[in-house]
Amino acid sequence: MKIVTIIGARPQIIKAAALSRAIKNSFSDKIEEVIVHTGQHYDQNMSQVFIEELGIPEPKYNLNIGSSSHGVQTARMIEGVEKILLDEKPDYLVLYGDTNSTLAGAIAAAKIHVSIAHIEAGLRSFNKSMPEEINRIMCDHASTLLFSPTQTGFQNLINEGFNADNKKPYSADHPGIFHCGDVMYDNSLFFKTLAAQQSKVLEEHNLMGKDFVLATIHRDSNTDVPERLTAIFEALLEISETEKMEIVLPLHPRTAKLMEVNLLDDVYRQVIISKWLKLIPPVSFLDMILLESHCKLVITDSGGVQKEAFFFKKPAIILRSETEWKEIVEAGCGMIANADKAMILKGWQLFKKAGNTLSYPDIFGDGNAAEFICQTMLDSCFR
Ligand code: UD1
Ligand code: UDP
Repeated sequence: MKIVTIIGARPQIIKAAALSRAIKNSFSDKIEEVIVHTGQHYDQNMSQVFIEELGIPEPKYNLNIGSSSHGVQTARMIEGVEKILLDEKPDYLVLYGDTNSTLAGAIAAAKIHVSIAHIEAGLRSFNKSMPEEINRIMCDHASTLLFSPTQTGFQNLINEGFNADNKKPYSADHPGIFHCGDVMYDNSLFFKTLAAQQSKVLEEHNLMGKDFVLATIHRDSNTDVPERLTAIFEALLEISETEKMEIVLPLHPRTAKLMEVNLLDDVYRQVIISKWLKLIPPVSFLDMILLESHCKLVITDSGGVQKEAFFFKKPAIILRSETEWKEIVEAGCGMIANADKAMILKGWQLFKKAGNTLSYPDIFGDGNAAEFICQTMLDSCFR
């Protein structure tokens, strides 16, 4: 069986590591994988660092699309992916998540009848002002195999009319849906020992033996709206200064570019001179999971980071008005604070009081989601 895998944005590159590893370890004689990088993310520390560190095969193609408006970026990707699919003639196009690279792959493949396997299917925020919500709905409804990481995602698909009883042969009109666990959980389990052995991030940032908070911010709904970005940074300043605790913030390039423009002047000045806010460039995955496993708490608008906080048993204050990972909130380990300063401070107090009393149920599978996905793709192709 031949698959073409699309990567483009940072989290997709990381997720792809799990499938490539499963293919290398268990399916190398049965599955040929061709990796296509759309070039949506291109800075060394947003892309190549992960390919090298996580042992992902070098992409055979890089479309070098880069940054642009949604329409231009997606359209250029569709054109590039279509050409590759016509040349490579894969059995499946494998797509991850909900970025513009995902959508472009889905449109290109569906129109020329290449079957799509969508990993992270069924997730919904029920907020169509998010570009990701549009991307994931459109991708799911063009897919042949849909792999949902959670029971909620699986149920969302059923609610949208997908039939859990469909049997092979599958097609876009007769898709197969599966609840299989999360490839990001596979990765966190696999890489945590390596991170503890290899990452020097705690030493580099003078965090050894210290309590600290880890924060990430990159959603357009936060970075592009001055009032929201300002409220978030005001809360970070207040928590770090009151508690005399460092907040480490690996800055997504989008946020780095927009902070000076969109923060109130006074807040921007305070952020820059603060001795408690540590603004650092994006870190590698091994560094990130070491930070996640050693911090007190996570404050984030990232989908992946809120889940990894849960994997490493850390509470998360979620800087969004909703989450696709509602199990984390239901378990009491995540709190939706939106970009509301008072709510973020309330979340801090709540989790400070909870201390180590929170429990983190098994929600994301058994660490073998990638193997299941490979086997299911194979089974669907052959008797
Ligand atoms: C994208 C995804 C989002 C995902 C995020 C992961 C879409 C619509 N959004 O958002 O779902 O959570 O990736 O990180 O696909 N930039 C750089 N260097 C890079 C990449 C980006 O400087 O290597 C800057 C550019 O100014 C660019 C901006 O970041 O315009 C946004 O990049 P883009 O890929 O369009 O969206 P993200 O915000 O990264
Ligand atoms: N990540 C990383 N370095 C960083 C920030 C994030 O390796 O500096 C990883 C993080 O551990 C997770 C993924 O990137 O695996 C999440 O990506 P991001 O937050 O960019 O996007 P989202 O998950 O929200 O789509």
